[in-house]
Amino acid sequence: MIIAIDGPAASGKGTLARRIAAHYGLSYLDTGAIYRAVARDVKRAGGDLTDAAAATRAARALDASTLDDPALRERGAGEAASIVAGFAEVRGALLDFQRAFARKAPGAVLDGRDIGTVVLPDADVKIFVVAEPEVRAQRRYAEMAGRGEPVTYARVLDLIRQRDERDRGRAEAPLKAAADALLLDTTHLDIEAAFEAAVALISRKIGQ
Ligand code: CDP
Repeated sequence: MIIAIDGPAASGKGTLARRIAAHYGLSYLDTGAIYRAVARDVKRAGGDLTDAAAATRAARALDASTLDDPALRERGAGEAASIVAGFAEVRGALLDFQRAFARKAPGAVLDGRDIGTVVLPDADVKIFVVAEPEVRAQRRYAEMAGRGEPVTYARVLDLIRQRDERDRGRAEAPLKAAADALLLDTTHLDIEAAFEAAVALISRKIGQ
């Protein structure tokens, strides 16, 4: 079984995808980490994030064993990822890896922005996770404040809005729900309730 989970920044899709993968005994790939890693590698090579050629080189040379690098969670990493993710060549260079991961037994859950629309249009189940920007900002703010990062809620909300706009507005694989995606609004759901709602959607879809 292959499950695609897409949604905007801090919608809770990562936590949800990880739990769904564990529940169904599937592998899990956080595709956001791939774009974060490309941005990290561009910067480490002394390159500029807006340089498509440098970003494409980094994407082609990406070492998948570095995707759990804590540096990918550092401040600014999501925004940096969103810049390199706008280049068609970068996205193209990362497609095979994502598809091969999904196809391997026993199946997988992938989360990102374009999994249901571009990477795995034939996924068995597609879930599009949404939540109000204010709630997403509150969750991300709590995460960052918990790590002792000096941020304000207002700043986090601002960054989330900017990233939403960039991810939705880009020409290449923009953030949007696939026509056959199931919508899951987590605005008023905690992690447990969101997980239960997702399992209910999946069970209905696969007829169990
Ligand atoms: O965890 P969060 O939702 O903040 O971000 P993420 O899922 O790690 O993604 C970081 C950035 O990578 C996003 O803002 C997108 O621009 C980009 N991305 C993408 O373009 N396509 C994907 N499949 C996954 C992430």
